[in-house]
Amino acid sequence: MSAIDEVKQRTDIVAVISQYTALKKAGRNLTGLCPFHSEKHASFFVFPEQQSWHCFGACATGGDVLSFIMKKEGLTFGEALRLLADKAGVALPEKPGQAEKKEEQAELYQINQAAAEYYHNLLLTSPAAEKARKYIAGRGLIPQTISDFQLGYSPDSWESLKQHLMQIGYSENSLLKCGIIIEAENGKTHDRFRGRLMFPIRDAKGRTVGFGGRALDDAMPKYMNSSQSPVFDKSSILYGIDRAARAIREKDRAVIVEGYMDVIMAHQYGINNVVASMGTSITETQVLTLKKLSRNMVLALDSDTAGEEAMLRGVGYENTLGAEVRVVRLPEGKDPDEVIKEDIKSWEQLVEQALPIMDYTINMITAKLDLSQPGDKSRAVEQLVPSIAAMEDGVRQSHYMQKLARLVSVSPHVIETTMKKLVTAARKRPTINKEAVELTIPVEVTDTLEEYCLALLLQHPELKERCAGFSVDCFANSANREIFTAWLECDDRLILKDKLDQNIHERLDALMKKEIPATQLEKKIGASLLRLREKYLRSLESRRSELLAQEVEAGGAGADLAVLEEQGIETSIQLGEVQKQQRWSETRR
Ligand code: GTP
Ligand code: MN
Repeated sequence: MSAIDEVKQRTDIVAVISQYTALKKAGRNLTGLCPFHSEKHASFFVFPEQQSWHCFGACATGGDVLSFIMKKEGLTFGEALRLLADKAGVALPEKPGQAEKKEEQAELYQINQAAAEYYHNLLLTSPAAEKARKYIAGRGLIPQTISDFQLGYSPDSWESLKQHLMQIGYSENSLLKCGIIIEAENGKTHDRFRGRLMFPIRDAKGRTVGFGGRALDDAMPKYMNSSQSPVFDKSSILYGIDRAARAIREKDRAVIVEGYMDVIMAHQYGINNVVASMGTSITETQVLTLKKLSRNMVLALDSDTAGEEAMLRGVGYENTLGAEVRVVRLPEGKDPDEVIKEDIKSWEQLVEQALPIMDYTINMITAKLDLSQPGDKSRAVEQLVPSIAAMEDGVRQSHYMQKLARLVSVSPHVIETTMKKLVTAARKRPTINKEAVELTIPVEVTDTLEEYCLALLLQHPELKERCAGFSVDCFANSANREIFTAWLECDDRLILKDKLDQNIHERLDALMKKEIPATQLEKKIGASLLRLREKYLRSLESRRSELLAQEVEAGGAGADLAVLEEQGIETSIQLGEVQKQQRWSETRR
């Protein structure tokens, strides 16, 4: 038995959840007010037999005891596992090499922190930093901000940081690994940052993981970053997240800007829910990090090409990651830093008026076209229909179909037809094996359907697009859920493994090795995802109807009957869809 299973087995889900909400018996199950949203009628249930929980109310989600703790305490899978393991008295195995890795990372945090302090002191006191002090004063930063963000100055010399850090005991090798000194061709090493304004970059836990350094004049490049290191991964870091996390949660909105200076200025003016991507388009990992705090995201990026690219991806994030993305229209040629400094009220207004990303994209694309011309009409439809076709939410989709139809003055029917063609074309894409090989999911794996799906996906990342819109809730097992979510973010085996808690590694290795013939992959994954979804919906439905029956018998005092009934309708619609798709793919065999 794996450590994860042992922890789950030794944990009493009822006892754990009772600490967060009062539970009372409801037949074989227990019910109480949902601990995740406020409600008057209990729509939260615990199912001791399956060791699982579900909220039939506003959350409409559920899982096992680990996912409960993750959600309730805002923990990662590994953290939740350790918490429960401690309580249950299960010793989790330390993987060989893990301790060393942690030690290595701990040293890199220390080095970065020591460098940040060194640079910061120089900025505050060194005569050589006069130019830097003038510069930041000129940009309007006050002393409190400089200390909050621990801004610093890297002296214009080749070795001063290196010497300082080696004097306090760090090896040249560690400094290299940290990416703050670099090795020249002649094998000698020197400081990476020289004569720059330094921005320490911290992770969500406030640990310094690297630096951005800005030139104080027209020197190129304008900004430099620490190089990639075991603690510094540009694609997952959000500048300012350590100071912004709480405000993002409280305001239920994250504002994403492009520059360090934009973040700093926002915070100086008391707008704390602001973070920056690291000068690149926002990545899935970043969106997922933010989504743990709030699903509402507002992009305030320069209206240049980089911005456009990010926008276009943003539409995708709404569909694949379930974020709600809006876009601020910044005045031409201005960045948030300038707008905030000039007039905080107008900044607040801009954020309030941010357009849903699809509307923004429509504006952006149609602005370059002449919609009275037939050619441009087709172009607009061609460019916009894919994003609309990808929308999961039918109501939203129909809204934008109508909007587009109005814009190019054709009937919505025409847009719909174009969309259908596109979807059919996508489905017709070459399958791996054209011969009619019988599509079978081996019988022995049907009870581990979750693992079968995961193994297929892990071994064939090209199947990712088949997962668009697939809800992680369909995985009942939180370890499987964890693997699936991480894989969606990044399918590179090594990085994936690195991201996942070590207690899941064994499971991951087994899935990677699972033997599945590489034929009819598209069909296999299509069919098994549908089965998984069907299984989930069926279990939901049977629980729901059982609960409903109990409630009716008890006079409907507990759960909100209307909610349960409504959910029943929703579930059966979805089940109907699943079955329709299953029939459809069978006829195509
Ligand atoms: P200011 O010009 O001082 O206002 O800086 P800013 O923070 O507003 O930066 P800007 O809008 O020019 O660029 C946005 C972000 O892109 C910066 O904060 C950096 O993270 C990144 N960036 C900009 N220029 C460079 C560069 O030359 N190299 C690298 N690696 N990153 C850059
Ligand atoms: Mn700027």
